[in-house]
Amino acid sequence: MNALPALRIKDAGQFGQVGLLVGGDSAEREVSLDGGAAVARSLERSGIRFGLHDGAPALFDAIRAGQVDRVFNLMHGPGGEDGAIQGALRLMGVPITGSGLLGSALTMDKVRSKWLMQRLGIPTTEFEVLGPDGPDPDAIAGRFGWPVFVKPAGLGSSIGITRVESGAGLPAAIELARRYGEEVIVEPALEGGEYFAGVIGRTVLPLIRIETPRAFYDYEAKYLSDETRYYCPSGLEAGLEARLQAQALQAFDALHAKGWGRVDFILDAQQQPWFLEVNTVPGMTDHSLVPQAAQEAGVGFDELVWRILETSL
Ligand SMILES: Nc1ncnc2c1ncn2[C@@H]1O[C@H](COP(=O)(O)OP(=O)(O)O)[C@@H](O)[C@H]1O
Ligand SMILES: [Mg+2]
Repeated sequence: MNALPALRIKDAGQFGQVGLLVGGDSAEREVSLDGGAAVARSLERSGIRFGLHDGAPALFDAIRAGQVDRVFNLMHGPGGEDGAIQGALRLMGVPITGSGLLGSALTMDKVRSKWLMQRLGIPTTEFEVLGPDGPDPDAIAGRFGWPVFVKPAGLGSSIGITRVESGAGLPAAIELARRYGEEVIVEPALEGGEYFAGVIGRTVLPLIRIETPRAFYDYEAKYLSDETRYYCPSGLEAGLEARLQAQALQAFDALHAKGWGRVDFILDAQQQPWFLEVNTVPGMTDHSLVPQAAQEAGVGFDELVWRILETSL
């Protein structure tokens, strides 16, 4: 890991009044509220002035009332993580943490982000975009074999995702994914360990590996289960870890992500990484992945929050 640079802001007052944006009405609302509570406690400890705003309309009211100098964005999913709030705030002249409009929109869109990764030679699985008629299970089986993953193209937190073991499971999986948007993708299931690379500024944090007894890292494994195991340090040999960190940063840059985020990939038996996605507003509860990786790098939760806030400068 290349070391983090010195903090740019020394005095909490220099941040002005922070608008901490949480919640919204996406399916990831609860996750956002949890992280928001942890970040709010941290801002308080650091003596940073802030207001907590649930959803964009509440934030806009506070901006119009002159109460917001910059926004700490923790609103996950559509609205918060897809470029919408980034575009609105750009027009209003209010700085926001993390990625801008383009990077947010691209990373939130699994179809366009995978096309871009493929084009740039960043390894990601082949996939198919399902049209309104749905697929022919035999064609899917012929192309990918089983199992496959079926996902909504524009969500996160594993919501709407199914691992499908055979043709019989395909219709229900597609129906579930469609509840969260018209565009649905199918891709072959990868076998391997699942890894996460937190990014802060230009630094890639130590990799985290997770293990779950569940079929995959689903919503339950991410937020509810005590059985998910997190390994940081990841246990990879140092040279391999450094190569994977560099590749993760390539994926981050390719999708125009900025400031901070998290890159997710699966490492197969040949030690080849397969990039799943880039997240521009990763979870920020105190047991979330980026805070854990930061801790391993000697960066506590409060310093992490401070550094994320600096990405709005
Ligand atoms: N092709 C795949 N092979 C194996 N596991 C997968 C695959 N795609 C997704 N997964 C599992 O599903 C989880 C969520 O998938 P991901 O594409 O990251 O969507 P989300 O944006 O909802 O997090 C991953 O963390 C992983 O456990
Ligand atoms: Mg993911």
